[in-house]
Amino acid sequence: MKMGLKKKGLKKKDPVEGVPGKRASMKEVPGMDGIFKRMRKAAAAGSVALAIAVLTGACGNANAGSEERYVRIGVSVYDQYDTFLMELMNDFNSFVDSRKAQGIDIATVVQDASRSQAAQNEDVADMIENDCGVICVNLVDRTAPTEIIDLARKNDVPVIFFNRELVEEDLMQWDKLYYVGADAFESGTLQGEMATDYFKAHPEADRNGDGSIQYVVLEGEAGHQDAIIRTEYSVDTMIMQGIILDKVGYAIANWNRAQSRSKMGQLIDSSDTQIELVLANNDDMALGAIEAYQDREIPRDEWPAIFGIDGTQVGLKAVEEGLMTGTVYNDSAGQAKAMEALAYALATGVSPADIELPEGIEMTDNKYIRLPYEKVDREKVQEYLSK
Ligand code: GAL
Repeated sequence: MKMGLKKKGLKKKDPVEGVPGKRASMKEVPGMDGIFKRMRKAAAAGSVALAIAVLTGACGNANAGSEERYVRIGVSVYDQYDTFLMELMNDFNSFVDSRKAQGIDIATVVQDASRSQAAQNEDVADMIENDCGVICVNLVDRTAPTEIIDLARKNDVPVIFFNRELVEEDLMQWDKLYYVGADAFESGTLQGEMATDYFKAHPEADRNGDGSIQYVVLEGEAGHQDAIIRTEYSVDTMIMQGIILDKVGYAIANWNRAQSRSKMGQLIDSSDTQIELVLANNDDMALGAIEAYQDREIPRDEWPAIFGIDGTQVGLKAVEEGLMTGTVYNDSAGQAKAMEALAYALATGVSPADIELPEGIEMTDNKYIRLPYEKVDREKVQEYLSK
């Protein structure tokens, strides 16, 4: 890994774009056993009193001198159907459950923003109003955290942003703002290294023998740090390590398996040349690419090498079955553990200098916690499947 390339935080100049989308009615996040409130739905149905009553009982802040000393953590996710986030939140809930099992009165309020920043802002306002002691925010639009920051600051409620990284200037606006995630450049670099090793070990994978690798990129959302940086570092790493690349296609599939399946299908159908490599920004899109080949009944030995990132359970299974060539493990459990520990410490009033994070997890600049990525090929996959 080239540590010299390490970025401390994203800057305003990084390309950005909002994430459009409609808000569905509030639904429980799958796999969640945390408290989930249908606040807006109840309010729309004229049950304002009910929604408020439920929340008054649900949130509280050990920090606020409450006699009951209970801890309530608000969590807002950008899209409950995102596979990686689903796994992260399952892990997060297990960590909360272990604390509960130790007799601590702790619960979470989890809201799905359904890809709407306006809805997320409202949810966070509700959580703050109902005394959640800390809020974890998976921003919908990572360039638009201001309303949440202003509200949190006004009410003195710390915020842990996670997974969708806001620019450094925004995180520096207040000392009670934190970020938990990973370094996007690292995942791109590792993916590029795996693909390089694969082509060096398998010269026959250059199917037309022209000395260059015809490749396509399947990108996550426009403007997302993991999409922009993963693509850049993956491709650059391969070039720096001596692979000659020939880009024959590109599609944005918003981290989504179904979108990727259809867009990859179009790329296969329209490409004049055989695609030898698919670099997908995440596992779900790599799985969509696999399905596009299966849909066309193209024999497995004629497929390109396909690389993903995340190491979700379905992604790892595809590596185990030899369908996906490799993936890069994005440590959802580690990120969930760090976020839960930090949230608990902040909600119980531990001062930042005294926060003890789980072993192996470090905070830099009193702001950032980043978990490392790891390469996973077929040889190593069992280790990750049993994590
Ligand atoms: C990335 C992850 C993607 C998707 C995205 C959402 O880190 O690799 O699969 O979950 O976050 O922000």
